[in-house]
Amino acid sequence: MRSQSTGSVAVDDANFEGVATSGELLRTEALRKTFRSGSQEITPLDGIDLTIERGELLAIVGPSGAGKSTLLHLLAALDTPTSGAVYFARNSLRSLAESELAEYRNRAVGFVWQRHHLLPDFTAAENVAMPLLVRGEGLGQALRSAEGWLAEVGLANRAGQRAGELSGGEQQRVAIARALVNQPVLLLADEPTGDLDERSAEAIFELIESLHRTHHLTSILATHNLSLARRTDRVLALEHGKLAPSAEVVAGVAAGAARPANTGVRPPGERG
Ligand SMILES: Nc1ncnc2c1ncn2[C@@H]1O[C@H](COP(=O)(O)OP(=O)(O)OP(=O)(O)O)[C@@H](O)[C@H]1O
Ligand SMILES: [Mg+2]
Repeated sequence: MRSQSTGSVAVDDANFEGVATSGELLRTEALRKTFRSGSQEITPLDGIDLTIERGELLAIVGPSGAGKSTLLHLLAALDTPTSGAVYFARNSLRSLAESELAEYRNRAVGFVWQRHHLLPDFTAAENVAMPLLVRGEGLGQALRSAEGWLAEVGLANRAGQRAGELSGGEQQRVAIARALVNQPVLLLADEPTGDLDERSAEAIFELIESLHRTHHLTSILATHNLSLARRTDRVLALEHGKLAPSAEVVAGVAAGAARPANTGVRPPGERG
């Protein structure tokens, strides 16, 4: 059992703990994000209505600049929408006080960045322990938890190594352990395999898939890698500010490729 909630959050502890195992976890309503630079205006998200069920492993694909990172940042409350809303466990993030939002970011969400953002001069264990230290946990206990998570991502024997000395794939494993050390309900991974070769990308995807199942996570992956995306429960494509079932995945299904559960399209000849 995890330590008690630190405050009277509007999103109750049961939701952060992920006690409920089915039903809606996250929803966006007419989500819109506009950036202005000088006289230019760009709207990468132009009315996103998305419902994500607890336990779902969802992939978001789309060309570079489509707005995948922007969407994940809004879901993680790392940025605010221009209009529209994000609901976590049916509570609008907009209704949360700043301290509650901080708790949401720290406890409910685990974020894996496109570039891992590890502190290169700190050890793998110290990097993983960082979110626990931010939460006020003692150093000894935090490092013990960190070592447990490093073992889960296959790096038990690397805990004392400086992060800067690890390979790209190992660094991404450390970043995943760091994202999960607070036992979030929601895992958001922004191109977690983008900087890796094919084999390491495959291994990292399998690790995420396995952690997703063992820890009963709800996970959203932004990725350029369509063959990995196809192995998730549902693939949505972000383009021109809108989200829709991925046309390439639907086309792949029509051509007889494996059917992701939620495209709603059956390969030719499939029965039942
Ligand atoms: N803080 C910002 N200020 C101005 N424009 C921004 C900002 N953040 C993102 N953008 C713009 O919004 C658009 C979407 O960017 P975003 O990073 O979300 O795309 P992406 O789909 O993640 O791309 P990639 O696949 O290359 O990571 C881009 O045109 C980008 O330049
Ligand atoms: Mg991005």
